[in-house]
Amino acid sequence: MFTFYWRKFIVPYWLLALTAVVCFIIASAAGLAAPLVVKLLIDDALAGGNIVFLHFITAGIVVLYLIRGLFSYFYGYTMAKSGNKMLAKLRQEMFGKLQSLDYAYFMRTPSGDLISLFTNDLLFIQQAVTVGIPDVIVESLNLLAIMAIMIYFDWELAMVTFATLPFIIVAISYFNSRIGRLGALVEHTLAKVTSIIQQSLVSVMIVQSYVREDYEYQKFSDKNQQAADDLIKVQRLGAILVPLVEFLAAIGLTIIVWYGGREVINGDLSIGGMFAFLVYIINVPMPIRKISQALTYLKLGGVAWERINRLLNEQTPTVVDGYREIPVARGLVEFQKVSFAYRQDKPVLHDVNILAQPGEIIAIVGPSGAGKSSFANLLLRFYDPDQGSVCLDGVNIKELKISELRKHIGFIQQEPILFNTSILENIRYGRPGATVSQIEQAARLANAHDFIMELPQGYNTMVGEMGGNLSGGQRQRIAIARAIITEPAILLLDEPTAALDAHTEKQVMSAIRQAGVGRTTFIITHRMSTIVASDRVLYLAAGRVVETGTHLELMDKGGAYAKAVQLGEVTLRIQE
Ligand SMILES: Nc1ncnc2c1ncn2[C@@H]1O[C@H](COP(=O)(O)OP(=O)(O)OP(=O)(O)O)[C@@H](O)[C@H]1O
Ligand SMILES: [Mg+2]
Repeated sequence: MFTFYWRKFIVPYWLLALTAVVCFIIASAAGLAAPLVVKLLIDDALAGGNIVFLHFITAGIVVLYLIRGLFSYFYGYTMAKSGNKMLAKLRQEMFGKLQSLDYAYFMRTPSGDLISLFTNDLLFIQQAVTVGIPDVIVESLNLLAIMAIMIYFDWELAMVTFATLPFIIVAISYFNSRIGRLGALVEHTLAKVTSIIQQSLVSVMIVQSYVREDYEYQKFSDKNQQAADDLIKVQRLGAILVPLVEFLAAIGLTIIVWYGGREVINGDLSIGGMFAFLVYIINVPMPIRKISQALTYLKLGGVAWERINRLLNEQTPTVVDGYREIPVARGLVEFQKVSFAYRQDKPVLHDVNILAQPGEIIAIVGPSGAGKSSFANLLLRFYDPDQGSVCLDGVNIKELKISELRKHIGFIQQEPILFNTSILENIRYGRPGATVSQIEQAARLANAHDFIMELPQGYNTMVGEMGGNLSGGQRQRIAIARAIITEPAILLLDEPTAALDAHTEKQVMSAIRQAGVGRTTFIITHRMSTIVASDRVLYLAAGRVVETGTHLELMDKGGAYAKAVQLGEVTLRIQE
């Protein structure tokens, strides 16, 4: 936690931090001087009957507290300023890291956990940074100063008073280690709670259609309760600690009354001196209380920092960015002896060889789990093959800049993901800075322009959450427009019409055919109408390319593909 604090906070914001420290020292010094003034008041002004000095001291007290107040404000303000700047930067860094991670990371990390990092864990860090660490440092200084002054005044009395200090330290460290252990638990549970919220928002339609609202409610309630219970435990520990420490400090006070009283009676200590001592010891519990509270924040912040650090240090060894650029691609795609597995014990593709000429339309067909989507994942470099190579225009795609490669591929999924903004912005997402006429052209090519113009707000229509205001076929055609606006050399479609009825499929297919002109097109499909419109079929089964040829050739051959068609694995829709 402290190294984090040093690197992320002190180093970049040293000027603000320094200002904060200086302000604090001035404010503290003013506060610490107050008991001395009390001593002067009693021993000199009151005992000596000196009215002028009394006025002088009264004015002094006002000035001292004015200075203290003013510099406390400066301290609080600079602390908040640097703390919040640091947090904003950290949040930005985390988000930047998220954008840089590869697809595999998101496949294995629940998104709720990630959201929790940005909400709950950052909140713990915020407490640790803006309250925890400054309080530990500043209040320790404060405490040391009080102790130093007490020793300076009367070291014997001071030593006797400090006898309770070891007990205070033991109590604080005991409670803190327990708080730390519980804190990790709390943050884990809070991540679960966030996860449940996020899941239920994303799948609200499923929840409602299966009438599982009660089940979701209960699931949430259990975790929510657990998080609350754990937090209560943590705060109970904190709540025991504070009065315990205060009680131990109060014993110190009693010692002063007893031991100091004897010294005063013996004439070793002035009455004012004893009073000042009492005022100091009364001031002791406050910094100790703040320190123990701050240590709780630090513990929780430390756990949160570990979790955030895990994200920031996440390595993505699988997919490493390349360096070569090809501004214009022809669209020659070649898979050479490609083997691939997501997990070592479960191979997904074996020795796959594919050569697609520029402009060719290839239908990739095969049973569920054959590895069709995995083929797409490799071409897009969401993953890299374990053996063999994937080449674009004769260049191994590992050597290409990933951003270059993906610019050349228009990728369309079964369920298009649209952003909750206007149609115009959704299409423009493919090519930032595209003009309205370029967007319209892409929409025309994608067979979308006409239906867009029929919408009341045309291109400015908001598509709704996940594009929910549009029909499936409309969403898909907007996704096609978004994919082709970059004029990619390759179109990669993963079951683009699987979710659509026959009529809508026709509209989308004609959009794909228009959009595919002059582009190498891979279309993963079960639909016969799509297959017969392709130049070539690639039949994939159990991760191998079993057969390849035109639909008719393969039917004539009577092999695995023909059998699959006869068995109805490929939906026969020739008649449509
Ligand atoms: N992210 C992943 N992690 C681990 N295994 C995966 C992952 N994605 C897919 N698989 C496994 O890889 C195999 C091939 O999956 P793939 O998605 O490529 O099949 P598919 O041919 O697209 O099937 P479908 O027609 O059902 O979409 C399956 O056995 C699947 O369980
Ligand atoms: Mg698939």
